[in-house]
Amino acid sequence: MALNRRTYLMSRPDHFTVSYSINPWMHPADPTDTARAVAQWQKLYDAYIALGHEVELIEQAPGLPDMVYTANGGFVIDGRAYIPKFRYAERQPESALFADWFRDNGYEVLEPEYTNEGEGDFLLAGERILAGRGFRSADDSHREIADLFGREVLSLTLVDPRFYHLDTALSVLDPVVAPGAEPTIAYLPGAFDDASREVLEEHFPNAIRVSDEDGSVFGLNSASDGENVFLSPRATGFIAQVAERGYTPVTVDLSELLLGGGGIKCCTLELRK
Ligand code: ARG
Repeated sequence: MALNRRTYLMSRPDHFTVSYSINPWMHPADPTDTARAVAQWQKLYDAYIALGHEVELIEQAPGLPDMVYTANGGFVIDGRAYIPKFRYAERQPESALFADWFRDNGYEVLEPEYTNEGEGDFLLAGERILAGRGFRSADDSHREIADLFGREVLSLTLVDPRFYHLDTALSVLDPVVAPGAEPTIAYLPGAFDDASREVLEEHFPNAIRVSDEDGSVFGLNSASDGENVFLSPRATGFIAQVAERGYTPVTVDLSELLLGGGGIKCCTLELRK
């Protein structure tokens, strides 16, 4: 049983396919295998359950293949869910479905004014929120979440189109830390502009810096409960780095879901009740 029991929201990819392209990983002309996507997703679900976590489910709607990436379904702290406003038309209908789910499950729903893609671009690191900009979430959404949640927001600018969401380039390994303590994070330096790299170095001097090789197999798109780090088996260097720091790597291969440009973290939204 994990000491740090988490609750995650996931969506079984029953209607998974790649029928449009909104990031460089998506190639609609290439075939996808829905059954394989479901089988791989199930392994991630099973790994969370086996380690004592709770997983809640939202049903994937036909015609919304990216709904499997529930990290984009909101950003939740203290039972308050900030709803996404997707950049691309293809995903915009997802917002109302996630908002309904939160309402039906007793969360306070915070409707956004600005474009944002939920936990894809917002990661809670200790007391602070790390916020990505450059490809998807609008700069103004950073101010909006700072105001709504009353927390300091560190804005980070992404510059490599392959790493279009913050959670593809940065991972928080200690989701909960003692007040004032600095959580361990890992990141891919080349995914950020110079100014953001300086911000990261200043605030997180002990961060794990991940190689381009591990970054480009979506190694940073990982989830952590503070003890176990769920990550891609292809990110061999990062696996060794997390083990060195005393975490237990748990590998799950989501290669089929990578055809949509998503990995483990993308398929996982943390529900902080
Ligand atoms: N195809 C999806 C998109 O481009 C993938 C989303 C991945 N999600 C994430 N949290 N990085 O929007």
